[in-house]
Formats: sequence, C-alpha cells, structure tokens
Amino acid sequence: MTRSMLIMLAAALPLPATPALAQQGGAPAVALPVRQALGKVLPQRSPEQVYAKVCGYCHGRNVGPIILGRGLPAEAVHYIVRHGQNAMPAFRPTEITPAELDTLSQWVSQSPARKEEHGQ
Ligand code: HEC
Repeated sequence: MTRSMLIMLAAALPLPATPALAQQGGAPAVALPVRQALGKVLPQRSPEQVYAKVCGYCHGRNVGPIILGRGLPAEAVHYIVRHGQNAMPAFRPTEITPAELDTLSQWVSQSPARKEEHGQ
C-alpha cells in the first residue's frame, strides 16, 4: 500500500462523534436569554432587538419605569444594565455583549418616547 493510498483511506473514515459535539445540537432548555453557545459566534443584535426582547419585558409594561424618551445618560443606562438596580436584575456580557450594550445605552438615551408605552 502506498503512502497516498493510506492518506485517502484515513480521509474516508468517519470521525468519531464526541459527547461534547453531540450535545450541541438541541436548543438550550433555559428561560432567560443566553447569548453564548458552545462553538457558535452569534451575530450582534440591534438595540431595537435587545430592547424588544430583554428590556421591553418590563419597561413600558408597567413593571419597570419608562426609560425611552427621557434622555437618560447613556453611562447610567450602561451601569444599571450591568449592575442591576433594586428589582431590576443585572445582565452579564454573555446575555448582552459589550458591543450590544454600547449601542443599546446610546439608543435608549437618544430614543423618542413611545406612545404605546404611555397607554395612548
Ligand atoms: C425584570 C424586569 C426588568 C428588565 C428585564 C429590565 N429592567 Fe430596567 N428596571 C426594572 C425595574 C423594576 C427598575 C426600577 C428599579 C428601581 O426601583 O430602582 C428598572 C430601572 C431601570 C433604569 C433606571 C430608570 C430610572 O428611572 O432611573 C434603567 C436605565 C433601566 N432599568 C434600563 C434597562 C435596560 C436598558 C434593560 C434591558 C437591557 C432593562 N432595564 C431590563 C426592571 C427591569
């Protein structure tokens, strides 16, 4: 058997599936948004998407205070999201990435008020 034949034979063999790889298939069974998945790079979400999916769960729905259209300083929004405040939980970089939080806090700071959040 020549050397090139051996290489071809090795390439044709199926790779053994490791348990770690096998577990990657299904969706994680957690309720909170998790931004980190093994071996996956997730695309950055827009501030509108993060607000709709994460913040809007409480804000604008009479759970948290209205935060849009108030000109809140971006630095304050940034700090509160990472550290939490009283009833508001903190969000980790695996849930809202540093880049997402930078654009989100600017966006919240500069956003206009939403009529629907004021019950109009
Ligand atoms: C589980 C509900 C919940 C979620 C989700 C949530 N918040 Fe909050 N947030 C609150 C509550 C409740 C308060 C009021 C805390 C207090 O009493 O001091 C608050 C306060 C704040 C404040 C301070 C407002 C003020 O008037 O001083 C900011 C800014 C804020 N949240 C931003 C965000 C952003 C941005 C997100 C999304 C990444 C978010 N929050 C997600 C519940 C939530």
